[in-house]
Amino acid sequence: MDSRRILLAITGGIAAYKAPELLRALRKRGHEVRCALTPEAERFVSPLVLQSLSGRTVRRDLFDAGEEGEIDHIGLADWAELVLVAPATANLMAKMAHGLADDLVSTVLLATRAPVLIAPAMNVHMWSHPATQTNLAILRSRGVDCIGPEAGELACGWEGLGRMSDPATIAAAAEARLTPKSLAGERVLVTAGGTAEPIDRVRTITNRSSGKMGFAIAAEAARRGAEVVLVAGATSLETPWGVRRVDAPSALAMRDAVLAEFEAASIVIKAAAVADFRPEAPSDRKLKKEDLPESGRLQLELVQNPDILAEICRIKGARTVVGFAAESHDVVAAAQRKLARKGCDLIVANDISREDSGFEVDRNAVLFVWPDQQVEELPLLEKSGVAAQLLDRIEKLRAKR
Ligand code: CTP
Repeated sequence: MDSRRILLAITGGIAAYKAPELLRALRKRGHEVRCALTPEAERFVSPLVLQSLSGRTVRRDLFDAGEEGEIDHIGLADWAELVLVAPATANLMAKMAHGLADDLVSTVLLATRAPVLIAPAMNVHMWSHPATQTNLAILRSRGVDCIGPEAGELACGWEGLGRMSDPATIAAAAEARLTPKSLAGERVLVTAGGTAEPIDRVRTITNRSSGKMGFAIAAEAARRGAEVVLVAGATSLETPWGVRRVDAPSALAMRDAVLAEFEAASIVIKAAAVADFRPEAPSDRKLKKEDLPESGRLQLELVQNPDILAEICRIKGARTVVGFAAESHDVVAAAQRKLARKGCDLIVANDISREDSGFEVDRNAVLFVWPDQQVEELPLLEKSGVAAQLLDRIEKLRAKR
């Protein structure tokens, strides 16, 4: 997404040690970040680290003439397109709920008109205390968003809810907060990754698809406010923020998962590289060399897998269904034939003979092939960029209905 101005407010809890990592994640995504610390936060994280990573002077003191000279606290509140409080302590949440402004961070939070996202972190009993929960309800009723806390082992020795979400998750939630909710109300089903067709207990036949394209689509759809289910093939990629994941490593498992989720979906995007064939009779034991015939040759009988895309296109109704086509030659003609044969609304085709695009890499050069024979050629883009372009087209299709 485009570069945005984010104020990262850090309050005094042990999770503040993760703030530099969060700052780096935001900067890596291209955002401009300024940091504001409470006096207590400085005990847990060095302002010098934050200054080096943000490339900006860190704001700490409401009444410091030097700091205020560079950008005063109202200027800071107005500058931010998003105020992200991470970690947010119980004390800071109480101050926010009751409108206190007794230090720089709480004053900026009272003055800003930007959206606010908090990432609480505290002891499990402080979190579940009725005072904190009431404060949270007040903040939510005023439009403040909250990410986490998560359950786990806490620095104080207790286990339970109280851990700050990890920096990558908070960064994704911050971007989602800054993204217009253009897909709100849509239910998007995405498939991604290759399938692995079992030969025996340990071996599979698979393909080179990494799943990155489908995961990027799921992430972008969630940012745009859609309810997203991601049916993931044989991939160990991390589930994107805001996405429900169903693992379906083989073609048959993927068909079951897609059909189970299809009814509720309004948009289906089939980015998965489904194996066209599977071994007919996979062994439930490991095949041993001594079990092989004397010829030393092992013959596998393959049977055709169901074509999930063609199957759902036959019952698609008012849904928008997008297929993918990975082609090594005659890309446009092959994609057009595929679109006509399967009956989807759009095919995203890519030329897998290119070294710089397609399988395993982070970029993709695709063509959008439409039922009216129109072909749009996109430049080489990050897969997140392809995802955004694709969802823009789908939004237009949905608007026409
Ligand atoms: N697909 C599917 N089920 C299959 C095979 C493919 O749903 N058994 C979907 C893929 O998810 C993708 C599209 O169909 O969206 C294109 O897949 P591809 O394998 O390239 O198409 P095929 O029809 O199998 O054509 P070919 O293998 O001849 O290229």
